[in-house]
Amino acid sequence: MKKTIWVALPMWLATSHMAQAQSGEINMICSAQAAWCNILAVTFEKSQGVKVNMTLKGSGEALAQILAERANPKTDLWFGGTGDPHLQAAEQNLTLEYKSPTLPKLHDWAQKQAAQSGYKTVGIYSGPLGFGYNTELIAKKKLPIPKTWGDLLKPEYKGEIQSANPASSGTAYTMIATLVQLMGEDQAFEYLKKLHGNIATYTRSGTAPIKAVARGEATVSISFVHDGPGEKAQGFPLETITPVDGTGAEIGSMSIIRGARNMDAAKKFYEWALTPSAQALGAATLQFQLPSHKDTKVDPRVPDFRKIKLINYDYAKYGQTAERRRLIQRWEREVNSLSR
Ligand code: F6P
Repeated sequence: MKKTIWVALPMWLATSHMAQAQSGEINMICSAQAAWCNILAVTFEKSQGVKVNMTLKGSGEALAQILAERANPKTDLWFGGTGDPHLQAAEQNLTLEYKSPTLPKLHDWAQKQAAQSGYKTVGIYSGPLGFGYNTELIAKKKLPIPKTWGDLLKPEYKGEIQSANPASSGTAYTMIATLVQLMGEDQAFEYLKKLHGNIATYTRSGTAPIKAVARGEATVSISFVHDGPGEKAQGFPLETITPVDGTGAEIGSMSIIRGARNMDAAKKFYEWALTPSAQALGAATLQFQLPSHKDTKVDPRVPDFRKIKLINYDYAKYGQTAERRRLIQRWEREVNSLSR
């Protein structure tokens, strides 16, 4: 009994103290990789004196949570994840209109992302979609390196490819939207049906397939190629390639939640996250997306966009709630329901 009191008392004191210091806290959802999210939280906390309570969630799941909290938001800020759910959050008025004074210092694509959301989100990084492959498994199984989207349909890749599930993953939704823009919608769905036959697993998170490939659990992944160098740096036999027939790219984004309880802290984090020194924390934790501030030092391992055939991705159209819902439902109905 005594023991319970001694344990409970400091906990009570700690909780009541935290409640008083609420303006010095921020509740954040982070949809980037854990290492990056953690260093952001620790560095912000240390340098700005604001406590960060962080939850890690994939892009689609983050949007679902923010929507569920609509009447009583518990989240103050959403960092990272593909731009399309951030645009949807803006469309549904879940996020706050906020024009950062730093906007003119950002790359055009990041400013455009802000403008087309009515300044309810902003681009923080960008990265192209492509394939990851395990160099040892490819050689051992005598498989060709896939160079085009069409290559992934070859029968020898049956059961060798991993992709994420578009309902939970922004990466996988970017893949569907990219294929629709490249091929036309009906042809893209014919392609996805055939690809389904070669897919071993659809993962919840967008980064899981490239991690599985790096560790030899699959041979090829459909992934953002900026997630490759980090795996390689850890010693895994992984390379990436972007399809020569063209591909899409994400605009990883950041939004402040409308009605945030810790609004001042949320704005403080937002401004800090746009500075070159905060953006450099990505590469410091082996995250190689292209940072949105023009003055952020670009690590040589960041994919060189000039060497990639990029489509003119229509972010506004494919960031619409109705469009995303319709395409994902069509994928569930016509593709995911098929046996493999
Ligand atoms: O954190 C790595 C990353 O590829 C980001 O660049 C991207 O925004 C995010 O993952 C997407 O994750 P998911 O597909 O799980 O939503």
